Amino acid sequence: MSITLREGAFAKINLTLDVLDRRADGYHDIRSVLQTISIRDVVELELGTGQPWALTCDKEDIPQDNTNLAWRAAEVFFRTAKKDPQGLTIRITKRIPAQAGLGGGSADAAAVLRALNRHYEYPFSVYALAELGAEVGSDVPFCTLGGTALAEGRGERLRKLPDLPETVFVVCKPDFSVSTPELYRRLDETAIAKRPDHKAMEAAIAKGDLGAVAENLWNVFEPVVTEEHLELNYIKSLMNSYGAMGFAMTGSGSAVYAMMPSFEYAAVVCAMLKENYPQIFIAKNV
Ligand code: C5P
Repeated sequence: MSITLREGAFAKINLTLDVLDRRADGYHDIRSVLQTISIRDVVELELGTGQPWALTCDKEDIPQDNTNLAWRAAEVFFRTAKKDPQGLTIRITKRIPAQAGLGGGSADAAAVLRALNRHYEYPFSVYALAELGAEVGSDVPFCTLGGTALAEGRGERLRKLPDLPETVFVVCKPDFSVSTPELYRRLDETAIAKRPDHKAMEAAIAKGDLGAVAENLWNVFEPVVTEEHLELNYIKSLMNSYGAMGFAMTGSGSAVYAMMPSFEYAAVVCAMLKENYPQIFIAKNV
């Protein structure tokens, strides 16, 4: 008989993102404060199907085979835990926009790891599970942990930070998308004029001072993407006019988010942007 596990997969935003040196393995070291937010996919795992592994998703443009990070996470888990599910079907209900910098694929992979770890009665600690996640992708370790954290290295060195007070975000995903490797290449050729102030951000988070958090949002990719996609300035200026405390692009884009003083302000921003940007969400930190 098969058994079904269900797990929420939460999107992430980068409150800060700094890119440091290019490493010998071609990746870059980063430093980033990350936050999980309430935009979520639902991941269902059916174990014991007695059939070959399968993956389905309600969005056609998401890979539905062993290249999907959720499938790869399941492979890594079963290999390392030395277990066999006797057939596995993964079903993903997608709400997190793809190509957005919101870590949608990583969130699904992390949900698979968490659900399996719980089902098998915790063979891995939270940090050991995050290490497994690093084999799947740079953002998977953080998504395994969730909450607020500082990530270093490729994203696998994590330090948990205090939870933020409840915060309302508007997240807007424009139509265009950006190639992450291309963006890292372009950043290598650019002198980075402004970097996030991590001391100030950590102090703001420690105090729960949302005004100071908003002042310190900064992503070094943002000027590079904005150069080619000026509409990001339009979205941010509208967010600003309707009361945003602060705003930034997340990850390698193209989604931008604003920290709003209340749900009511967030609803106004959504109403103003919705016609041109149907992929718009109100979310809070989780
Ligand atoms: O982690 P992800 O698969 O999104 O990375 C895509 C590409 O972005 C990598 O192949 C690499 O070229 C670049 N990258 C990087 N340093 C990182 C993360 C990604 O150079 N920390």
